[in-house]
Amino acid sequence: MNFTLSSKAISSAKTDCLVVAVPEKGEWPASTTQADEVMGGQLKALHKNGDITGKTASTLLIPTADTPWNRVLVVGTGPNTGRKPADYRKALIAMAGVLKDGAAKNAVIALADTPLIGEAATTSEGAKLNLIGRTLEEQFYTFFDFKSEKPPKRKLTKVTVLASGAGKALKDAFNLGLATGRGMNFTRDLGNTPANVCHPSWLADRAKELAKDNEVIKTEILDEKQMQKLGMNSLLSVSAGSAQPARLIVMEYRGGKAKDKPYVLVGKGITFDTGGISLKPGEGMDEMKYDMGGAAAVFGTMKTIAETRPKINVVAVVAAAENMPSGTATRPGDIVTSMSGQTIEILNTDAEGRLVLCDALTYVKKYDPEVVVDMATLTGACIIALGSHATGLLANNDALADDLLAAGERSGDRAWRLPLWDEYQSQLDSNFADMQNIGGRPAGTITAGCFLSRFARDYRWAHLDIAGTAWLSGKAKGSTGRPVPLLVDYLMSNAGK
Ligand code: BES
Ligand code: MN
Ligand code: ZN
Repeated sequence: MNFTLSSKAISSAKTDCLVVAVPEKGEWPASTTQADEVMGGQLKALHKNGDITGKTASTLLIPTADTPWNRVLVVGTGPNTGRKPADYRKALIAMAGVLKDGAAKNAVIALADTPLIGEAATTSEGAKLNLIGRTLEEQFYTFFDFKSEKPPKRKLTKVTVLASGAGKALKDAFNLGLATGRGMNFTRDLGNTPANVCHPSWLADRAKELAKDNEVIKTEILDEKQMQKLGMNSLLSVSAGSAQPARLIVMEYRGGKAKDKPYVLVGKGITFDTGGISLKPGEGMDEMKYDMGGAAAVFGTMKTIAETRPKINVVAVVAAAENMPSGTATRPGDIVTSMSGQTIEILNTDAEGRLVLCDALTYVKKYDPEVVVDMATLTGACIIALGSHATGLLANNDALADDLLAAGERSGDRAWRLPLWDEYQSQLDSNFADMQNIGGRPAGTITAGCFLSRFARDYRWAHLDIAGTAWLSGKAKGSTGRPVPLLVDYLMSNAGK
């Protein structure tokens, strides 16, 4: 698909399909009024007759004659007074749905002059262009890697988005949106790939590929022998039962000055989580192929960063392992010494995410990080607490937590903070080791965060629990690409500093 930004006048924009917005209440955007004039008042007439309601995400496709356009797609955008970015996004998704499988070979989208309510960071023309770019890439996503059938051949090959100008700021905003969407789609590809293909060494190959395709990315892969030498016994206890060896995957992007401390991303990469000897129940276990969602988001974010090249340094570390039961698997009650030297009593082998992450968190100290943000499909408790709308956020630094929450708000990829109070720490007390790896049923997401915090004392750190947000279940089963938008927004907002 070819995407471009243009500041052409609507009347000279020859296209197979012009897309305009009609609000439910209030003044029409200038581009819609212009289109209506060219159409001899047809839109106003259809609106009067109730064929066009303007309800958020309603659509009407009108074949036209004697205009520069073969069709006009009218998208409802709700009342002018209450249109939040999230409502606008619903309208964009509806538009993409019509365009995706429609007859038009190309389209011109005139939706950037629809006003939104809220702060400038989410309602400016640039913010809208960013969202349009990202939503188009996201909505045109398909995943046919494992079907005999080929993906349906699209008629649509070229999309032009109209803006008030084609200056650098607007172009950058639009391109960042497109790059974010592509990063998300990479994350989704990795997540949707089944665990018999997507195992730790396969993920390592994806990192090598990313580095090969983008010379700004360097990669380094640690195998089990190297991890043993470093004392990563906690991480290795998770892969002990698997025929697939663990990998520690490092990707480095250096866009800032050599002395700039890097932003460090750490991802949980459990390519399949059976629970190990603490075996999970069978129902829905297939979805544990998504237990590398944190790693996938790290990959997707690095892809977006490689494409947009902000002036910062970013180091990404993925702790990849498969959690299987077998004769060589870790047993409940086993005690391991982590790379930090702290000992861990593994009471439940299904609380494995924190076991791989803790050694990765110790490992990244060597980068002298600006901040460390880890992401993980860590606890079922997070789904109970927040459902699938918000990512859980825990942090040892308020400013970092606030920055991440704000990035989530701006990008519509929201997070919600949970407390990391000392009072919760005692739930991890062990009779035999420095700590145990589970904290009982109460506050399961928080005690998981408490566990990680013990390995992140030396730097500003935040943890994103994406158990509820990384993928959808049921009929719409599939990876969402979250929290790539949050991370990209956070990193880009720090690139100017
Ligand atoms: N990967 C799971 C968490 C999970 C479960 C995410 C379901 C999304 C959907 C994690 O490794 C796990 O099994 N966590 C346990 C922790 C418990 C044993 C303390 C959980 O949440 O039950
Ligand atoms: Mn588990
Ligand atoms: Zn897991």
